[in-house]
Amino acid sequence: MDEKDIFILRKLYENEYISGEELASLLNISRMAINKRIKSLKALGYKIESLKKKGYELSDKDIIRVWEIKDCIQSSNLFKEFIYLDEVDSTNTYVKQNQQHLPNATLVYAERQAQGRGRLSRRWVDLEKGIKMSILLKILLLDLEKIVPLTLFTGLVINRVLREYGVNSFIKWSNDIYLNGKKICGILSELSGEVEGFGSIIIGVGINVNAENIPNEIKDIATSLKAETSQNFDRTRLIIDILKEFEKEFPSFEKYGFSHFRDEYKSFCMNLGKEILVNGERMVCRDIGQKGELVCEKEGQIIEISSGEVTIRF
Ligand code: BTN
Repeated sequence: MDEKDIFILRKLYENEYISGEELASLLNISRMAINKRIKSLKALGYKIESLKKKGYELSDKDIIRVWEIKDCIQSSNLFKEFIYLDEVDSTNTYVKQNQQHLPNATLVYAERQAQGRGRLSRRWVDLEKGIKMSILLKILLLDLEKIVPLTLFTGLVINRVLREYGVNSFIKWSNDIYLNGKKICGILSELSGEVEGFGSIIIGVGINVNAENIPNEIKDIATSLKAETSQNFDRTRLIIDILKEFEKEFPSFEKYGFSHFRDEYKSFCMNLGKEILVNGERMVCRDIGQKGELVCEKEGQIIEISSGEVTIRF
């Protein structure tokens, strides 16, 4: 999708309907060229109807308003670039492969992911009308130990935004977000590369937003905001609110680290006080440490855990 396609989508989004002639004259291209573009937008999945004597209508307005996210990023002091992809294997892989040319604080969003990746080498099932995006942060190698706390911080930011929307979400350590006992958001942070003393952290975020049908293979453990609340969420607004909240709190995270956010994290952490399985071993979660580690008790011994598979036993 290029700038002209984005312009067409914007006009379709903002108007009940718009004629091919008008689009052609606004873009200074032929009517035929408009036809061709509408055809390829339809092939990408946009629901565009042709109305007799009126023109085109966007019948499903649940699209990502690329122009609004671009505006948000242009006025941001942190984020530098936005890349919108209709389809990709994985936004994290895309960022990894292109990181040399991408500026610090780039956001990559994809409408469809053919091979979305989850933590612990799992697959991230691509639900329609979700959010799949990755943030690239180029940071001093010395700071790379921030990766775990940074991931927790990202989860906290998303949970905060969802709660501001009235969603009763919780965080399952380390950074899964749950609603009504099922997962609605996962974060995969990856370290990558090293260029002149800088390393990259790629924070990949998947949020199940407006999917109505949850595939059988995950429906016992995962859900979407819409499936739980029967409400449609504005995905563009959600992305922008997450970026804004991230940007607002990032200086405090850089200055004070995770400990600054620990109380809030703890107040929404589902694991605290629960019996949990950590890589198959049974223990009780007692606390969340200053750097975000899970503090557990097993047979009177305190064990600190900073990664791994954690299951809560209800
Ligand atoms: C998990 O819960 O296991 C983490 C899931 C992370 C999924 C997101 S979707 C966008 C980004 N690209 C990927 O391939 N994975 C992350």
